[in-house]
Formats: sequence, C-alpha cells, structure tokens
Amino acid sequence: MTILVTGGDGYIGWPTALRIATRTDDRVLAVDNFARRDWVEEVGSVSAVPVAWMDERLEAAREVHDVHNLSFVQGDLTERSFVDELLEVHEPETVVHAAAQPSAPYSQINGERANYTQHNNMQATRNLVWALEEHDMTDTHFIETTTTGVYGAPEFPIPEGGAVMENQGERDEVPFPAMAGSWYHLTKSHDAANLRLAAQQFGIPISDVRTAITYGTETEETRADDRLKTRFDFDYYFGTVGHRFCAQAVAGYPVTVYGKGEQRKPFISLEDAVEGLARLALEYPDPAGEVTVYNQVTRAISIVEIAETIAEVGDEYDLDVAVEHFENPRDEDETHKMEIENDRYVDLIGEQAQDFEDGVRDIFGTLTQYRETIEAHEDRFLPGVLEDDED
Ligand SMILES: NC(=O)c1ccc[n+]([C@@H]2O[C@H](COP(=O)([O-])OP(=O)(O)OC[C@H]3O[C@@H](n4cnc5c(N)ncnc54)[C@H](O)[C@@H]3O)[C@@H](O)[C@H]2O)c1
Repeated sequence: MTILVTGGDGYIGWPTALRIATRTDDRVLAVDNFARRDWVEEVGSVSAVPVAWMDERLEAAREVHDVHNLSFVQGDLTERSFVDELLEVHEPETVVHAAAQPSAPYSQINGERANYTQHNNMQATRNLVWALEEHDMTDTHFIETTTTGVYGAPEFPIPEGGAVMENQGERDEVPFPAMAGSWYHLTKSHDAANLRLAAQQFGIPISDVRTAITYGTETEETRADDRLKTRFDFDYYFGTVGHRFCAQAVAGYPVTVYGKGEQRKPFISLEDAVEGLARLALEYPDPAGEVTVYNQVTRAISIVEIAETIAEVGDEYDLDVAVEHFENPRDEDETHKMEIENDRYVDLIGEQAQDFEDGVRDIFGTLTQYRETIEAHEDRFLPGVLEDDED
C-alpha cells in the first residue's frame, strides 16, 4: 500500500510524511516541486531554520528513525500528465494533499500572483481527484488541508462543516465555504466545493481538514536531528502572525498589534496538526462518497493575547519584548470574538499535545539559535520588497 503526501517538502507536509512513515510499514511517497523555496527567495527572504534537501532528509530519517519506507518524487501537480503517471504508477490508497501556495499576502500582491495562486491550488486538487476517478481509484481516501479561513469571521459560532440555513420557514444544512477574505483563502473555498462534488459524483471518501494558523518549529520526529527540521518563515508574505511576532522579538523589535487587537484567530500547533493528519491517513478511512469536515483548530486566540504571551515567554529567553499598539491600517473588526466548534477534530487527536505558550517556547528555543539569519533579513518583516508591490 502507498500513502501519498503532497507538499512533502513544506512546513506541514514534511513532518506529516515523516510521522506517517514512522508509524506504518506501508510506502509513504512525498511529492513536491520545491516552489515554496522559490517563493520565499523571490520575496528576498529565507527560512530561519536551515532546511536540508530531500536526499539529506531521507538519509536522516533512515539513520535516526529507522525509516526505510519513505521516498520522494519531484513534480508539479498542476501538470496533468505528471499527476496521471504518479497515480497510475503508485496507486495510493490514501492521499494527504498538503501542496498549495498558502500565503494570503503573496496572493494579494498583484493580479499575476492571484492568478498563479488560484491556478496552482485549484488545478492541483482537480488533477488529483480527476486522476483518482479516471484511474479507477475512487476508494482512495483523499485528505486535504484546507483552511479555517474559508469560514471568514461570522458573528455566529462556526460549525464543524455546514451551516443551517433557513428560508421561508424551511431549514437545511448547507456548506458555507465561500466567505474567505483573500485570493489564496478562496482557493480553499473552491477546493472544498470541488471536493464535495468529487465525493458526490465519484464516490471518493474525503476528509476536508480545515486547518487553523499553525505554530511551532518542531514535532517529536524533527527534534532528533538538524537534517529533519521543517522550515520556519518570518517575512511579511510567508511568516504567519505568531511566527513573525516571535522572529521580531528575537531581532529586538517590539511586537506590533494593530488597534485593539482583541479579534480572535484560530490556532493549532504543528505537533497537533501533524497528528491529526497522520491519524486520518492511518486510522480513519472515511465513508465512501462522503465528505467529513474537521476543524483542525485547538483554540481561537486574540492577537493581543498572542503578543502578551510572546512577551512573557520571551522573558524566559532573556528577550525584552515590548508590545506596541498602532492604528489599524486594515478594515477589520478589532473585537471579533471568533468561536469555532472542533469536537470531531478533538475526538480525532485525543488530547492537545502543545498549547500556544509551549509552542512559543519551542519557537524561541529554535529561533534564538538563528538570530543572525533573522537580523540579516529584518527588513523583510514589512511589505514592499518586491518591485511590483505597488501594482
Ligand atoms: N501553515 C499554516 O498556518 C496553514 C494554515 C491553514 C492551512 N494550511 C494549508 O496547509 C497546507 C500546507 O501548508 P504549509 O504551511 O506547509 O505550506 P508550504 O508552502 O510550506 O507547503 C506547501 C508545499 O506544497 C508545494 N507545492 C505547492 N504547489 C505545488 C505544486 N503545484 N506541485 C507540487 N508541489 C507544490 C510547495 O513547494 C510546498 O513545499 C497548504 O494546503 C496550506 O494551504 C496551512
């Protein structure tokens, strides 16, 4: 049996492929086109944590974890012929689809990047599900990391999946994945809708894993060796909010909160996100023809709490972190109290492995070793690096 992990060179995909491989004798095949490495270079930045190339990673996995069932193929999932051959040759019984251009700010730079992002993400997903259909592999469990961003920021508690809609006295549950607020996030809204169609028309069992903002530098398996580390980005385009704040703190910058910063965003640790995906891949064959939505989130945290936690934990690492409030340049509700249901996801992972505070400890433990790299790129905390940013 083969488990395919797309985006296997990425922040989440690599540790996921590694964890799955340590827990099964089945073949685990990671696939990636290394585009993320290029995008970060394009915006003039670099992963704070040095990331080994795949041959070194695989060698380390063999040496350190006795993993001999993990291999890698380089290729672009937007190319139909590549995806066809990939599935025909390897006949995966499970696909963990974690390949995407995942940055909202990158997708917002200009029309070219919006196009690129939407084409890349949606074409890759369509190629995969259509190849499953056309190669008679519709029993394959298809698991995708979509995003909690598909829900937007509604005033009601976010359900784990559809919402109940009422019109003229009649009620029904409807999927509501189209409230995303960026050209990137909307790719996942479209994917969620396409996955629903793929389940309905082809009978493919689908797990739509709506993943929250993911924090942390390590998983149990990556701690063991420097060659096994996953990437950590801190620039304006690819550093997610908690990560960028931590890097700013390490470089001696104040952590900047726009406006009140009371709005809550959904978060999950890398350790828990990887565990959820590994369990789905190994233990949870979803029912044929059905979509199961998992809200891969452990808590919604306000921006101001994030900043304060970073400042407090920073003390333990001799970092003097100031929290500053600036006028909000964005049009957003600074007090939005997001509530999000996650019962199905919590059932899946059992207990949360790492809360935000411990995640920040991990991040500081790692980043303080790479202070020079961050300081050398500290102008990348802000936008305006690309010549055509103004477009
Ligand atoms: N990191 C987060 O906070 C977060 C939050 C919500 C959802 N997600 C989702 O989780 C998944 C993984 O995100 P990540 O943070 O690891 O991002 P990442 O960029 O580190 O990983 C994605 C990987 O996919 C690869 N890739 C992209 N397009 C490809 C293509 N056409 N063919 C082959 N490979 C391709 C990239 O090279 C990269 O290595 C994505 O689907 C993302 O949208 C991430």
